[in-house]
Amino acid sequence: MCGISGIISTKNISKRLVNGIRNLEYRGYDSCGVALSNGKGNIAVKKNIGVVDEVDKMEGLSMMRGKVGIAHTRWATHGTVSQDNTHPHLSCKGDFACVHNGIISNYRSLKESLQKEGHKFLSETDTEVIPHLLEKYYAKTKDVEKAFVEALEQLDGTYAIAMISLYELDKIYCAKFESPLILGIGEDANYIGSDFNAFIEYTKNSVILDSGEYAIVTSGSYTVKDMLRMEPVEKETLKISWDAEMSKKGGYPHYMLKEIYEQPQAIVNAMGIDSHKIREIAEAASKSGQTYLLGVGTTFYVAKYGQYAFSNFGKRFFPCISSDEFLNLAEIDENTLLIALSQSGETYDTLNAIRFAKKEGAKVAAVVNVIGSTLSRTADYSILQGSGPEICVISTKAAISQMVILTRIAMELGVIQGKISELEKNELERHILELPDTIQKVLNENSGILNTLALRYSKIKNWLYLGRGIYYPVALESALKMKEVAYVHAEGMPAGFLKHGTIAMIDPEHYAVAFVPPKECEELYNLTMGSIEEIKARKGFVLGFYFNDTDVNGDLFDEKIVLPSMHPVAAPFLQLIAAQLFAYFTAIALKRNVDKPRSLAKSVTVA
Ligand code: AGP
Repeated sequence: MCGISGIISTKNISKRLVNGIRNLEYRGYDSCGVALSNGKGNIAVKKNIGVVDEVDKMEGLSMMRGKVGIAHTRWATHGTVSQDNTHPHLSCKGDFACVHNGIISNYRSLKESLQKEGHKFLSETDTEVIPHLLEKYYAKTKDVEKAFVEALEQLDGTYAIAMISLYELDKIYCAKFESPLILGIGEDANYIGSDFNAFIEYTKNSVILDSGEYAIVTSGSYTVKDMLRMEPVEKETLKISWDAEMSKKGGYPHYMLKEIYEQPQAIVNAMGIDSHKIREIAEAASKSGQTYLLGVGTTFYVAKYGQYAFSNFGKRFFPCISSDEFLNLAEIDENTLLIALSQSGETYDTLNAIRFAKKEGAKVAAVVNVIGSTLSRTADYSILQGSGPEICVISTKAAISQMVILTRIAMELGVIQGKISELEKNELERHILELPDTIQKVLNENSGILNTLALRYSKIKNWLYLGRGIYYPVALESALKMKEVAYVHAEGMPAGFLKHGTIAMIDPEHYAVAFVPPKECEELYNLTMGSIEEIKARKGFVLGFYFNDTDVNGDLFDEKIVLPSMHPVAAPFLQLIAAQLFAYFTAIALKRNVDKPRSLAKSVTVA
């Protein structure tokens, strides 16, 4: 949700700066810009609508010259996508330039009073109040740092801000309140970024700012201070274990496809997570008065998957709530545990739910992919899933990995509760460990047919995705993939729910995908087949995803994807992967912007 890059060096930085926002494009990509100081008494700003490469071509961003600069790639919240609304924003005199991620919730009243004082605004953004506030407080204090802190004191809402000023051309100021911001400590330069990808090609040493902190960064030093007291804070340096190569496409046409193909490794990594970490959360869940599962978007569906896993293996029912609705539903006390899922660890809705719950005394366990993210640092128990960078806005490998981790925690809980034996758990884990090879087989052998089907049915406007039991969250997540990447409506539904209303829509023009469990899940299998019969009785179209142990009546399916048979604990993962590919190939057939679908951003850091 908007990407910030800032660099201060002893050398020209424009190419690195532009590279920084190019690597952050998955956070927002409707417009972008750069503010650079060449040390000659002005701050040059170039910005326009488009992705980084387009704007670079139009405006010559990487041809600018300077040793200190800030840049931004935008995901519009306040104000349309326009050149004026693109960051960086300047003060009236052009003496302060700012970029911002987050939302300044009191910007209207601030803007009104600044306008009354004579400040001229050029954009509709909330951000533009910041450079004007800086100008106002600098006129009063003649001190950039004091002006910066006074300006910050006026702001309500959430922010990550980077600022350069004509009065201190050897410094970048930046501040964080809830929106992510980190420093990169390099050799000939220091960096600022919304995340590691802004500077991972140049340095792996980073310092993570906490809410309420600001930093003053020069080419050879940095100081982090507390906003309230304006006093230095001791910070640890974190070594990033990801490398720049992992964030590249590596020959794949899209990150989405690359990340789908990385799922076998993501599962190996999830299975390799220290069993003490798994046990710790299972024990906390076992002792809790109430455990909630939460996430939003894909991670809500991951949480739903976990809910079934906890019921199946742990024999405990845990409510699962979408993070954005958490405050409206949950009852919290000091015996409550939240198990929160998040790829980025920076999603506002999830962090907001957690802050609320922590205030009420609850404990938080988190499964997160991004190292050093807010969620991983605020949780009482945190599992870093180790899936590697997920660059495509559409989540695939991170979600699969989280499902595996939740299944492990659920099985461990089953052991603690005496519902399954240690031996049974080991046997189930052995089946999950068979997944990476089988997934590889599915990727190799089923991609062709999935591509053909996607081409054949790419014009279909509506799909119904049906599953029962643990295949219901698989259907939900698969449908979300189709919506996000192909912009095709797909509705996930429990197959048993169909007959209670939606069945009225079924006719020969109606298209459904059915996720059929392995035959050995007898009851679930029979019930699912029953729902398919109901569709066929009304001549609806059914694309079946089933396993090759299934002696199905071929007439029931108009099209089919037959997957290698697997143990029930592992089978749903294969279905999800096949559905991810179906969505991917449909998006290709429809010429969609696969890695950066319209209107989406990788981490949604606003309410
Ligand atoms: C996933 O494909 C989506 N981009 C989106 O639903 C995402 O899962 C959601 O915004 C939560 O993000 P998080 O995992 O980073 O918290």
